[in-house]
Amino acid sequence: MLTNSFISLAFATLSLVLGIETSCDDTGAAVVDSKANILGESLNSQTSTHVELGGIIPPIARDLHRKNIDKVVKEAMEKASVTLEELSAIAVTNRPGLPLSLLVGLSYAKNLSKESGKPLIPIHHMEAHALTVRLTERVEFPFLVFLVSGGHCLLALVEGVSKFLLLGHSLDESPGDAFDKVARRLKLKNRAEFGSMSGGASIECAARQGDPTAFPFPAVRTGYRDCNFSFSGIKFHAQKLIEKEEARQGVEADGILPNVADFCASFQYGILQTLARRLQRALLFCELKGYLQESKTVVLSGGVASNHFVRAGLSRVCAMYDASLVCPPPRLCTDNGVMIAWNGVEKLKSSKCLVATNDLDSVDIIPRCPLGENITDEILKSSIKSSRLKLLDF
Ligand code: KG4
Ligand code: ZN
Repeated sequence: MLTNSFISLAFATLSLVLGIETSCDDTGAAVVDSKANILGESLNSQTSTHVELGGIIPPIARDLHRKNIDKVVKEAMEKASVTLEELSAIAVTNRPGLPLSLLVGLSYAKNLSKESGKPLIPIHHMEAHALTVRLTERVEFPFLVFLVSGGHCLLALVEGVSKFLLLGHSLDESPGDAFDKVARRLKLKNRAEFGSMSGGASIECAARQGDPTAFPFPAVRTGYRDCNFSFSGIKFHAQKLIEKEEARQGVEADGILPNVADFCASFQYGILQTLARRLQRALLFCELKGYLQESKTVVLSGGVASNHFVRAGLSRVCAMYDASLVCPPPRLCTDNGVMIAWNGVEKLKSSKCLVATNDLDSVDIIPRCPLGENITDEILKSSIKSSRLKLLDF
């Protein structure tokens, strides 16, 4: 650990942090300064490979990270016109994530740290997603964060840079996973226009021409008055519906349902409903406990937050409770190096999370690492009833 005098020295002048992200399937790097300027960034997405292979295969993700990390980091540094010597610290995701993927970023960052003598800042991937918004908007603590991605689904109260209260999380899959698996089952990638998109993005695109009420998607976990999520039921229901509809319409092996737009719109609406109900309960819980008295801000982030239909629906829920929904720009909602660098900047300002070069062995990957203090049971005990929400215009 480094002393406070080092930290104050770093902030006497402008600090520069290099951020490195390899927790899943995106290799990202960026240099961000303490005035919230993104000086340089680079990203190599593996999405098209994994869409082609039908899912993320960890050793393949690792190999692609290995192949690209040097290029991506050098590109970010070159764009920023910054040398290693000029950096204040190197931030890297070490938790949670795919072990093989995390290891590539962490060992690369440790080597850079040794080479340059710059301290390392280990970063929690979900904390970084949660705080990205503070790079682009004036959002003060405390605020509510709603992270909906391919790896996670959670609702948390953010009280400080390293202070989170976990209100709810997914008990099985993530919404991004459900989007990806349903897109695969619908064979959307067989259409050229969707070929290189993530499953979620292709469903959103196909849904634009569809009717969200065409297929029924029952409400999920209505018997539990908590903020926890489940997406495996909705995914399973979708797969059964597709099977039935394909048989009814005589769709061939590689074919796509003629009414795929209606199906995608209905599935997307089903996901929105389950997200909206938990957000409603989280807002009511915060009201009950007096948690968001200064300003009621809900930050929506993660890959699924780039879905405009989901954003619009959740924004309606916020409006019903006098809260405002803020989203980072879409490119910062998905995995990237900028969010890691920015989290490094915020930690550098406030904390004890810097690791000196002689202490690098103390840092390891943590593949499973929950976010903050878990207060999900407290919500259940509050027994807050959610009510029907009007999420569509008709
Ligand atoms: O945050 P992210 O880049 O990676 C992590 O999971 O950490 O999220 C990726 C997920 C994928 O499952 C992808 O299908 C989903 O976000 N996604 C979307 C959209 N764009 C990406 N889901 C719904 N609608 C979208 N437009
Ligand atoms: Zn992520």
